[in-house]
Amino acid sequence: MDKALVTDHLRSEGDINTTRARQDWASRLKHSGTQTLLQRDCDVFLHQAMSTPCLDALQAAQGIYLEDTAGKRYMDFHGNNVHQLGYGHPHVIKRVQDQIAQLPFSPRRFTNQIAVECAEKLTEICGGELNRVLFAPGGTSAIGMALKLARHVTGNYKVVSLWDSFHGASLDSISVGGEACFRQGMGPLMAGVERIPPAVSYRGALPSPDGGDVHYADYLEYVIEKEGGIGAFIAETVRNTDVQVPSKAYWQRVREICDKHSVLLIIDDIPNGMGRSGEWFTHQAYDIEPDILCIGKGLGGGLVPIAAMITKDKYNTATQISMGHYTHEKSPIGCAAALATIEVIEQEKLLEKTRNDSEFIHTTLLAMKEKYPVIGDVRGIGLLWGIELVKDRMTKQRAIDEAEAVLYQCLNHGLSFKVSQGNVIQLSPPLIINRQQLIHALAIFEQAIADVCDQYHYCNKENEHDSATL
Ligand SMILES: Cc1ncc(COP(=O)(O)O)c(C=O)c1O
Repeated sequence: MDKALVTDHLRSEGDINTTRARQDWASRLKHSGTQTLLQRDCDVFLHQAMSTPCLDALQAAQGIYLEDTAGKRYMDFHGNNVHQLGYGHPHVIKRVQDQIAQLPFSPRRFTNQIAVECAEKLTEICGGELNRVLFAPGGTSAIGMALKLARHVTGNYKVVSLWDSFHGASLDSISVGGEACFRQGMGPLMAGVERIPPAVSYRGALPSPDGGDVHYADYLEYVIEKEGGIGAFIAETVRNTDVQVPSKAYWQRVREICDKHSVLLIIDDIPNGMGRSGEWFTHQAYDIEPDILCIGKGLGGGLVPIAAMITKDKYNTATQISMGHYTHEKSPIGCAAALATIEVIEQEKLLEKTRNDSEFIHTTLLAMKEKYPVIGDVRGIGLLWGIELVKDRMTKQRAIDEAEAVLYQCLNHGLSFKVSQGNVIQLSPPLIINRQQLIHALAIFEQAIADVCDQYHYCNKENEHDSATL
């Protein structure tokens, strides 16, 4: 009997573990140690669509590579977005080891040198008015703190967010998130959330009068005015999973609207911060400044969980409220990892490198789009690229089976990435990747695309759509 079970609303954040292609993949994992570990994992952990039962079992990670229990290596173009520096960067390891030896924990009410240095450095790279920091053990908690701060500052509890967005898995985060697969059966959720359509260039919900996306921002103003009592607008500057890259005009208009209506702009840069866009933080590529910035994931150098909310001095007014009363608030180990990560990005000039690599990837992917009709759209920023596979460039019907075929062929050949919305291949390499490795990875990807075109009988057609970038 076919045990594959898929419902389309699950195909949002990432690829899922209930498909036929996934079962075929699992049946090909023959290494007995791997099979045993996967079975024990399956027996002990709660099952979830995007993790357990797992894809494979790991025994090591170094640089851009993951290594499974059979000794097979994958270039990691997914990394849950902690992998800006790849894995096991010697500088981060050394800093963290030294910190563990000296001061492994700092109970609340005490401060410590490394936490202060890390917060100071973060405010320096944020620039502008972002000069107040609060650490948290994970991104979701940073979002929770931001939502509370916005309520406190504005006196308004209502929030506008985007459909299809993800801001973490806790109840407050899924309340503002836009993906049904996280909210289903979880209500009642936090009251007062209004969702608006995201600025999507390729298949947006709102017809564009002029090919632009500023009308999506105008819709924010419409909702703020109609609904009243809105305290905050929360969004990723660039949607990480299916790589939606709004225009500069969109973000500047959003900033203008928030200012006009005294609505706080909360930017969630948890997956894309720390250099992925070619800037420290993605909003810097748009010349705007949020009122509250949430970061996490790669902040800990792929080693330690740590996140932060960074805001402005003028919002430092909740002195008698605990916004983030987290046990690991001024974690010396987390802060050592974060400071070391910033140092590596500076020393290895990873922001400049990311901007250069970005051009290379963009050109290479556009050339593939010319050749392969299954590629409907190519979009990205820095070292974050989305390749949308479609059955037909006119209808834009999502090529879901084709995307899965590309994923599993690439995994077979040692390249790991995620598939979002069922048909968007997301390529998110470590920023430390060298050009040769990048070329190799893109060659594996191209071969899989070529094979899928053969297998599904796509024939070359003229290019109908332009790609979108910032
Ligand atoms: C955009 C975004 N916000 C928030 C989070 C939550 O971060 P964490 O898993 O560290 O709680 C994630 C995690 O995937 C994310 O992608």
